Amino acid sequence: MKKFLLLIGILLIFLVGCSDKKDKKTEVQTQILKVAFNQSEKHPQYKALEEFSKKLEAQTNGAYKLEISPNALLGDQRATVELVQNGVIQMAIVGNPVVENFNKDFAVIGLPYLYDSLEHQKKVFLSDILKPLFKSVSSNGFEVVGIFTAGARCVYTNKAITKPGDLNGYKIRVMQSDTMKKMLDSMGGIGTPMGQGEVYTAIQQGVIEGGENNEVTYVDLKHYEVAPYFSYTNHLMVPDLIIINEKVYNEMTPENKKIFDDLVKEMIENEFKVWNENVEAAKKIAKENGAQFIEVNIKPFQESVKQLQEEVVNISDTTKNIFEEVRKLSN
Ligand code: GCU
Repeated sequence: MKKFLLLIGILLIFLVGCSDKKDKKTEVQTQILKVAFNQSEKHPQYKALEEFSKKLEAQTNGAYKLEISPNALLGDQRATVELVQNGVIQMAIVGNPVVENFNKDFAVIGLPYLYDSLEHQKKVFLSDILKPLFKSVSSNGFEVVGIFTAGARCVYTNKAITKPGDLNGYKIRVMQSDTMKKMLDSMGGIGTPMGQGEVYTAIQQGVIEGGENNEVTYVDLKHYEVAPYFSYTNHLMVPDLIIINEKVYNEMTPENKKIFDDLVKEMIENEFKVWNENVEAAKKIAKENGAQFIEVNIKPFQESVKQLQEEVVNISDTTKNIFEEVRKLSN
């Protein structure tokens, strides 16, 4: 009998031990990567991130998954880079001009009239041309692991803009970098840097006359309500960058890192696919709400930013090389 009880005891200890281990294992296994995102859940990048998270969780056996905070809940893009640097959150999607403030060379991939089309941009983003540039900022506590398209940006305000002179005296909001301000100034207006979240009210209150952005964001943020003329200047295909805390990224096992990197590449490609469909849907909504889309001869605008292009290309050997490589991939 004693022997029997002893056996039961050992068995119980063994079973409890096993279930304990299992619990602990699941506890430490899932690392939540908090992602700051400044647009809505309807945005193509949000959808791409959601899909990425599902695959990441499945392929790393639950080691990682994302928790995305949309609508700039965690602050504007500049603030969210700091949160990533300090490890308060792990990831963020930020416009290229924001990272340009850490290394000026980034300006070259957000140059006006650099890419001929989305197809051209896709070839560049799926190539390895930009890897050394991305690595260059890792000493700041974050890594750039990927790059999203954000379509082509156009000017919108209270009237049609068909030539640079039309922007005379017009304060147009731009993203927060010197290059963006210079670009809008060269195009004939007054570039006014500010965070995206402030734009609607600033136009409404007459602090600025308009903004410049892609159709998806124009509609997502209902900017058509305050600036109903969207003119196809197509001046800028500035990318968004996917950034992650440097420590979090480099602490991944080689297997998980590979899964992560491969899935990022797949996500970039996917986002290109849905982008065009979203543009059409966005335009429809804007038109139904009274917005007008105006075709523009872009030649005079291209001319107006030539000097800026030259300045940026000549920042360094890196920018010269990247510019040449990008142009080589044009159709
Ligand atoms: C685009 C881009 C965002 C950026 C925004 C802006 O929507 O995708 O990353 O924040 O423009 O104008 O600030």
